Amino acid sequence: MNSPSNHPSTRVSIIGAGKVGSTLAQRIAEKNLADVVLLDIVEGWSQGVALDLMQARGVERHDRQIVGTNHYTDTANSNIIVIAAGIPRKPGINREDLIKINARIVTEAAKSAIAHSPEAILIVVTNPLDIMTYLAWEATGLPKHRVMGMAGILDSARFQTFIAMELGVSIAQINATVLGSHGDLMVPLPRYSTVNGIPIAQLMDAGAIDRIVQRTRHGGAEIVGLMKTGSAYFAPASSTCLMVESILLNQSRLFPCSVYLDGEYGVQNIFLGVPCRLGYQGVEQVVELELSDTEKAALIESGKVVSQNIEEAKAILKTAATKE
Ligand code: NAI
Ligand code: 2OP
Repeated sequence: MNSPSNHPSTRVSIIGAGKVGSTLAQRIAEKNLADVVLLDIVEGWSQGVALDLMQARGVERHDRQIVGTNHYTDTANSNIIVIAAGIPRKPGINREDLIKINARIVTEAAKSAIAHSPEAILIVVTNPLDIMTYLAWEATGLPKHRVMGMAGILDSARFQTFIAMELGVSIAQINATVLGSHGDLMVPLPRYSTVNGIPIAQLMDAGAIDRIVQRTRHGGAEIVGLMKTGSAYFAPASSTCLMVESILLNQSRLFPCSVYLDGEYGVQNIFLGVPCRLGYQGVEQVVELELSDTEKAALIESGKVVSQNIEEAKAILKTAATKE
């Protein structure tokens, strides 16, 4: 297979060398998938992280280059750009300010990175995820198959974890699917969640499934509640790495990702989590699952809220621009 990861200069640039970005850099390099450029706005930070990761090579024994920078010129000719830059939700910052700040960071980062890597595939991680992915797509004007957001793999991984914990079985036997937006209105699908091919409804009662579904929906918030000053990053980095791997190795793996919908599932002109196949070209196919009426209604409701949020974000940005 003519896969770019066999090429010595395969490169992934990560914008935002914080907890998610730096952990992702580690995963990519240690899996020997690509060289990594870590870009951050804070001078010295990404350079320090990169040097630390380079020194870990003496133990991990790989030859991938990890470079830290504050300049987009150093990200040139990347195969993939991951945007994990932004500020988290914290006291004193309301939802409107968060959207305004992160939208600016994400759209500027996307435009600057794509200007230096016009052929790259763009993966957005920054929250609020489905909105930021839409804004990055709109700002860059990239074809829809080259822009996607990471959330569904993470939400599905959480669902899988809770199923494994409930049943006391190995996670290796569990597949679970979560669609929809990244947030309270995500749509975990117990019908498409199995242990070695056996639907979970045959292995646990409805009360247990409901409990697990609720815990999955609040999976991110549960971790924030424990950590207090930050949010999850190990599982998010692993989830993003899976997308990077499927693209670079042209694996055509099927995952839920936030992708542009143009009528699929009855949803139009937003990014929303649905199953898709990821390969060298980006999103190769959006897969339309057969959904029950209840599942479909939940997905459409989730999409409606994303659509409203995108409009709200656009209005916030417009107002901010006219004030300047
Ligand atoms: P963090 O605060 O550790 O890192 C963010 C980094 O972005 C910082 O190093 C900061 O200096 C950098 N940054 C800020 N503005 C920048 C700019 N203009 N250009 C370049 N770098 C800039 O945050 P963490 O934990 O790494 O999370 C990053 C983002 O990912 C957040 O928005 C978080 O909510 C989101 N997230 C999304 C997940 C998902 O499922 N989609 C899961 C986990 C996190
Ligand atoms: C999470 O789900 C904060 O979106 C992040 O952990």
